[in-house]
Amino acid sequence: MPLSLLVVAAILVAGLVVAIFLIRRRSSCTPYPPGPLGDPIIGNLRQLPGHDAAIVFEEMGKKFGDVICLRVLGSTIVVLNSLQAAEELLDKHSAIHSDRPVFTLYELFGFKNALSAVPYGKQLMRLRQAHHSYLNKTKTSDLRPMLTVEARTLGKNLLECKEGEHELMLNRFSTGVIAQVVSGHRIVSAEDNYLRMSKMVLHVSTLMEQVPAVTPLDFLPFLKHFPGWFPGAHYAGFARQWRPVARELYTFPLETVKQQRKDGSAMPSFLLEQLEFIESTPKTEEGVDLVGELEANAASMFAAGEATTWSALSVFLLAMTLYPQCQARAQTEIDAVIGNRLPEFQDRESLPYVECLYNEVFRWNTGAPLGMFFNGLVSGFDWSGIPHRSISDDIYRGMFIPKGTTILPNIRAMSHDERIYRTPTLFDPTRYLPAPEGRGEPFFTGKYGFGRRWYLHGPASRRQQRLDSSRDRLVDMSYQTSPRLGGGGKSSLRTRCIMGC
Ligand code: HEM
Repeated sequence: MPLSLLVVAAILVAGLVVAIFLIRRRSSCTPYPPGPLGDPIIGNLRQLPGHDAAIVFEEMGKKFGDVICLRVLGSTIVVLNSLQAAEELLDKHSAIHSDRPVFTLYELFGFKNALSAVPYGKQLMRLRQAHHSYLNKTKTSDLRPMLTVEARTLGKNLLECKEGEHELMLNRFSTGVIAQVVSGHRIVSAEDNYLRMSKMVLHVSTLMEQVPAVTPLDFLPFLKHFPGWFPGAHYAGFARQWRPVARELYTFPLETVKQQRKDGSAMPSFLLEQLEFIESTPKTEEGVDLVGELEANAASMFAAGEATTWSALSVFLLAMTLYPQCQARAQTEIDAVIGNRLPEFQDRESLPYVECLYNEVFRWNTGAPLGMFFNGLVSGFDWSGIPHRSISDDIYRGMFIPKGTTILPNIRAMSHDERIYRTPTLFDPTRYLPAPEGRGEPFFTGKYGFGRRWYLHGPASRRQQRLDSSRDRLVDMSYQTSPRLGGGGKSSLRTRCIMGC
């Protein structure tokens, strides 16, 4: 090789080495986000809250700011306490921060290929595409007649049920809706298998005290080989104990629909449509077990859709009980606009106060304080969240977020941000109305999560979600007290429920 070429090559190599050194140096010099001082070796393990995690992190934020860092046994956890930080980091840098941590606990449960847990990549896109093909805007419009029937059944059940049975009726409604979506099954009896599975999911969640991904088992996966009594291995024993029950969530819906297809009784559903799609599509990807993925996808839809809807309805009922003046105002608006008939989906745009009330339910007491699952109102499980994970290093506002960071979006803190919502703990639908009556505060847009994990839509369209989310159409509801609808005052709440708008 001529000498000049050697010199050029040497300069290039030296340049590369210097560049790598500078990049590394920049990363290592850039500070991590602020956070509480930890102990040697275990780091902030002792500061991880055992309960009320979202509120504890919110309080921590008052000292350290809206982006907090905790280091636990060598892992980095970042908590995002403001909508701005979540949008800037999880939405704008969604290609970096839409992965999930490895959920050792989930794996032990047997939750293989669960949409909410699979890593960012091709499989995630495939699973999400399947959900989207059934729950896109057009398809959810087809669900309206079913939703209307179920909502009216709920209204009737609430009017007629005994004292203390309201929760049961809400559970029956949310399970009934999602069971029809997933498998075309209509619940007609209290002994229904889907109701049993829903109770099982709730029971297991209630026994959990920490969010999957930040249990001792997730930090020290080797604990999965130890018996449940071994210090730190509690959740390993727990998962092994519940595994057969959890697995039923996977197998039961698919097996039932397969059988119904054979005997010609299968109703339109996500499972039926996907089974037909898989059969009619030529195999393109080698080695992908599409039916296995479908089994998991149906279980994810059921588990993620049922409890969240139930939780939102419970919060709504609580708000209407604590704030009867809001209930009365919604009633007046519905009566004035709709008159003497039951509300329909298309009435939604003519009911501005009801729209504000609906949004206030999700802001006031979010069903997913730390990013997903249902809140303590239903389960007592207040560490609810499915964290994001970063697939490469990032720098945000001059702070270093290393590859592998577990990111917890604190949705509760965001929706109670005093810089945006005055008196945030107050249930006040008028806050969204323009002055002079209200303060024109924005609807809270973080309720369904962030980045490429925001269910059904991409981050770009997340901002349009106010009136536009197809999930809104699944969970939409408004209630009003209505002596007109009978019940003879039997029910203490005498509530009429409609679904839709
Ligand atoms: C009250 C209604 C609901 C609320 C508040 C809610 C909230 C959330 C949140 C906060 C996340 C986490 C997103 C993230 O990690 O950034 C999520 C994920 C998810 N939701 Fe919902 N959700 C609701 C209803 C539903 C329904 C009705 C379904 C199904 C029909 C559903 C299916 C899912 C699935 C499958 C995921 C995981 C997405 C992924 O990891 O890629 N959700 N939800």
